[in-house]
Amino acid sequence: MPNNTLTITFEEYSSFDELNTTDQELCNEAIKAMSTSHSPYSNFRVGTALRLESGKIVFGSNQENVAYPSGLCAERVALFTVGSTYPNERIISMAITAQTDKFQITEPVTSCGACLQVMAEYEKKQSYPIEVLFYCQNGSIIKTKGIKSLLPFAFAESRLKK
Ligand code: THU
Repeated sequence: MPNNTLTITFEEYSSFDELNTTDQELCNEAIKAMSTSHSPYSNFRVGTALRLESGKIVFGSNQENVAYPSGLCAERVALFTVGSTYPNERIISMAITAQTDKFQITEPVTSCGACLQVMAEYEKKQSYPIEVLFYCQNGSIIKTKGIKSLLPFAFAESRLKK
């Protein structure tokens, strides 16, 4: 049986200073977004900022619940806000960052599978790739130009049809 290989493409920046100004601004907005995190159970604050084609910035932060599965990740909070409030605007890019009082985060925090699947949905809806920046405030930054590199085997609409 042959083994198949999949190659993904991403950019890695060793520090904030290496980013272009537009990406730096979005990363700073993601830091601001963490201030509304409701995370009393994990004490892990996640912030997301999305840039729309109009230049508008939309925020999201993780919202936890005492019934744990009822909570939602920062990315999906922000993406669903766009879907319900600005349904006809394209998302150009999004930045994600995280912080905790328990330890220093030294690597970019990448999104969970459910958030990646939701990113894939909106990317397909708008027929335009979404740039994603995983911003570590004390380490490197990962940037991808589109969701396909992050979730190459995303569940696709074609699977629902015969
Ligand atoms: N979290 C996010 O906000 N985004 C992710 O992609 C993964 C995890 C949140 C959920 C929970 O509130 C906390 O981080 C710890 O898992």
